[in-house]
Amino acid sequence: MKIAVPKETKERENRVALTPDVVQALVKAGFECIVESGAGDHSYLADSKYAAAGAQIISDKQKLYSDADVLLRVNAPSSSEIAMMKKDAVLISFMWAATNPDLVAACEKQGISAFSMDAIPRISRAQKMDALSSQSNLAGYKTVLLAANALGKIFPLMMTAAGTIKPCKVVIMGAGVAGLQAIATAKRLGAIVEVSDIRPETKEQVESLGGKYIEVKGDDSIKTEGGYVKGLSEEFLKKQQELIYKHITDADIVITTALIPGKKAPVLVTEEMVKNMKAGSVIVDMATEQGGNCALSEKDKTVIKHDVIIIGESNLPSLLPLNASELYAKNISTFLLHLATKDGFKWEMDEEITKGSLITYRGQIMHPSLMKAVTP
Ligand code: NAI
Repeated sequence: MKIAVPKETKERENRVALTPDVVQALVKAGFECIVESGAGDHSYLADSKYAAAGAQIISDKQKLYSDADVLLRVNAPSSSEIAMMKKDAVLISFMWAATNPDLVAACEKQGISAFSMDAIPRISRAQKMDALSSQSNLAGYKTVLLAANALGKIFPLMMTAAGTIKPCKVVIMGAGVAGLQAIATAKRLGAIVEVSDIRPETKEQVESLGGKYIEVKGDDSIKTEGGYVKGLSEEFLKKQQELIYKHITDADIVITTALIPGKKAPVLVTEEMVKNMKAGSVIVDMATEQGGNCALSEKDKTVIKHDVIIIGESNLPSLLPLNASELYAKNISTFLLHLATKDGFKWEMDEEITKGSLITYRGQIMHPSLMKAVTP
């Protein structure tokens, strides 16, 4: 089976789907690997390293796409790239299929099968394949460093002959994978960390990392499924905004990580709050790809509003390409080896991981969430 790794085409993307180490293991397992020339450049992985690992380096993008039995990417290809794939080939990448109808339609039209990395069920058996977690973990770490760099203050308590510097206060909204790593990182740097989430089970996790939990009492409008928040009412959001107001306006740094899969991110930090924050404070909004948790953040930009620095970087793992590519390559290769052998895909349609992540099969929509979306 021929595995192809193209160069990522999304702007500001530094990651690559496979690293030379992983290519070597796959070649040893009997797969053939073709890598587009320059695919690893932004992760400091030169063509020569892939060649030494046993890959064939190809400059002709059309040939790479049309030769692939399975195409591995970080971000999904464009419709015109999918159109270069051969019928019955397999694509594996992040897809966010529920919010990407054009991408799903392109897979249908081309008659390909597509698995989405973001749809792999988060069960213990699939932990090694969980790219959402591996990338969020890195993002959570990096977000604190970005904030620390932008803040004109240090994090820890410091007693000097010239006076005592008080530790800075970091408020983190959302204690999922990224939020928990942000807590640990901010604590290590010496900050006082306050955290809020609306899933009650996060309280213990936050406290075990040394964070102070801001209790926001939930209500019936909060719907959770498999550890995810699936929905919230406007009334709840208003109540939450009032409850966290003082914490946000007292903070030096606010990091927001709150997401609702398949939906727009909830607005937790309003313009009114930003107006009342201290001059020079920093907000890092990790949810700008989904519309943002802060009313004033702008995707992929750093803006200053009401004297507050607001960072809206949407692709934080890409800022750590060495680790991010390494972990992603492990995730995606473990997933591939779960689905296929060197001789082809197993297509165990009732197996939980296959079923949960298969978006289209030979051009036919398979994922239950999408079937619902197309049924009137
Ligand atoms: P996510 O990226 O979907 O959301 C981030 C956080 O935002 C979540 O903790 C969510 O509760 C919170 N949030 C949503 N709305 C909010 C609001 N209005 N205010 C404050 N916080 C809000 O979450 P992530 O990091 O992908 O984790 C989701 C779940 O998956 C968690 O339950 C986690 O424990 C679970 N998980 C399970 C794994 C496994 O292998 N079993 C692996 C990784 C995560």
